[in-house]
Amino acid sequence: MARITSGVAMSHTPAIGAAIDLGKTQEEYWDPVFKGFEFSKAWIATEKPDVIFLVYNDHASAFSLSMIPTFAIGCSDSFEPADEGWGARPVPIVKGHSEFAWHIAQSVIQDDFDLTLINEMTVDHGLTVPLSLMFGTPKEWPCRVIPFAVNVVVYPPPSGQRCFRLGKAIRRAVEAFDEDLNVQIWGTGGMSHQLQGQRAGLINQKFDADFLARLQSDPKGLAKMPHLDYLQNAGSEGIELVMWLVMRGALDRDVETLHSFYHVPASNTALGHIILKNRAKRA
Ligand code: DHB
Ligand code: FE
Repeated sequence: MARITSGVAMSHTPAIGAAIDLGKTQEEYWDPVFKGFEFSKAWIATEKPDVIFLVYNDHASAFSLSMIPTFAIGCSDSFEPADEGWGARPVPIVKGHSEFAWHIAQSVIQDDFDLTLINEMTVDHGLTVPLSLMFGTPKEWPCRVIPFAVNVVVYPPPSGQRCFRLGKAIRRAVEAFDEDLNVQIWGTGGMSHQLQGQRAGLINQKFDADFLARLQSDPKGLAKMPHLDYLQNAGSEGIELVMWLVMRGALDRDVETLHSFYHVPASNTALGHIILKNRAKRA
């Protein structure tokens, strides 16, 4: 059967993509950010996932104010990088897994989570920056990716609790797929940041450290945090962190932290990153 072996989370700041695409990764400002992913790149090269279930948010690239799905699953076999205003990032086309995505949609919807089914969409920095951070600049992405978009842009966002429970439904779906696949689940966005208004530039290192620690040790308690706490403590875009809870919900109760990294600043955000591994070995 397919099985989820690990969860990965990281911020998806667009400036990171620009730093990679413009060859600035060695510059003094960016060097510490990319150093934080050296372990991760070596690790994923040995893990060789077949499929990444990638939880992210679209930033008015594929969707717009005319259509705002709360949860949307990409069921296509390919997804082009989006033009975010400066042309599309020069990264490979993202290859999906249509059959697996439809299976997950069927299972999760019948498990009482309403998903929007997407046959055609582009994917923006929310999805491509995490791939670049973990895989660098390959000619082709080394595995398939199922894009899973969560609305954290337009009010109201889904609660952390719902995201956590959704993760559990995704896990049940994955484990009911009759193909031997090594699946990783990623949650992206965060950590604390606010991009506009009087509080623009807000960074709350204490909140972020607590979130990283509790993601491993107390995910059930963390999932109960109301969305206003995210806005107050982590800034309006800090709400992106609920997507990390989808990832966490899909893992075992007990997980091992293989790697944890935190750095300020990365453009307007605090950059957080964590790799969690399921302890239990499954056949
Ligand atoms: C920025 C945009 C994002 O979508 C994000 O998650 C973090 C930062 C930015 O414009 O800096
Ligand atoms: Fe974002």
